[in-house]
Amino acid sequence: MANLPNRDAEKARAAEAAVAEIESGMLVGLGTGTTAAHVVSALARRVAEGLSVTTVATSLGTARSAQAAGLAVLDFADVAAVDLCVDGVDEIDPALRAIKGGGGAMLREKIVAQAAARMIAIADGSKSVATLSRAIPIEILPFARASVLAAVGRLGGEPLLREGRISDQGNLLADCDFADMSDLPRLAALLSAIPGLLGHGLFLDEIDVLMVGEDESVKRCD
Ligand code: 5RP
Repeated sequence: MANLPNRDAEKARAAEAAVAEIESGMLVGLGTGTTAAHVVSALARRVAEGLSVTTVATSLGTARSAQAAGLAVLDFADVAAVDLCVDGVDEIDPALRAIKGGGGAMLREKIVAQAAARMIAIADGSKSVATLSRAIPIEILPFARASVLAAVGRLGGEPLLREGRISDQGNLLADCDFADMSDLPRLAALLSAIPGLLGHGLFLDEIDVLMVGEDESVKRCD
């Protein structure tokens, strides 16, 4: 019987490859999630060996683990530009368009990604797909809960609130299933235009490089 892929080892391999691209003096954006957690540990190892970097984190959880690992974490409120952002994805297609936000951090993740001169997405083999199809996470201002859910419905989406979950900003999170995802730029623009919808997980232009961990190597797509 063929061995099942070791997804965690694939994530770690992709993270190591991305961290190898970090140079002294860089300000690095740290992503959120189980794949990005490998970046924190790989980067902490390089810092212990003498690499000198500062970081910003895309979530409170990542900030805590980065600090615990000995990394210097700046307050992003004071930062206008980042050299390199490394983050995981939930799904990514061959054009490097991704869905993010499984961990509910897509609003901060997109802000940091757009401030970055370069973004590397890292993934295990299960994240690489021919066509994006999973539900799109959104962050909702609680005041606008009903009106945002109704507006997503008018766009053909079926939103499902994450009960009992809030974002780092104290907002609501929902996952929106769309039967028609054939025009992603249009869908992204329509979602962005809904008042009270603070962020969504479609990352269509941010990612420059994808590194996918494989059995014994890393596949790179630029
Ligand atoms: C969090 C994210 C994560 O990057 C995404 O959900 C992937 O997570 P993981 O690496 O745990 O599979 O977008 O908001």
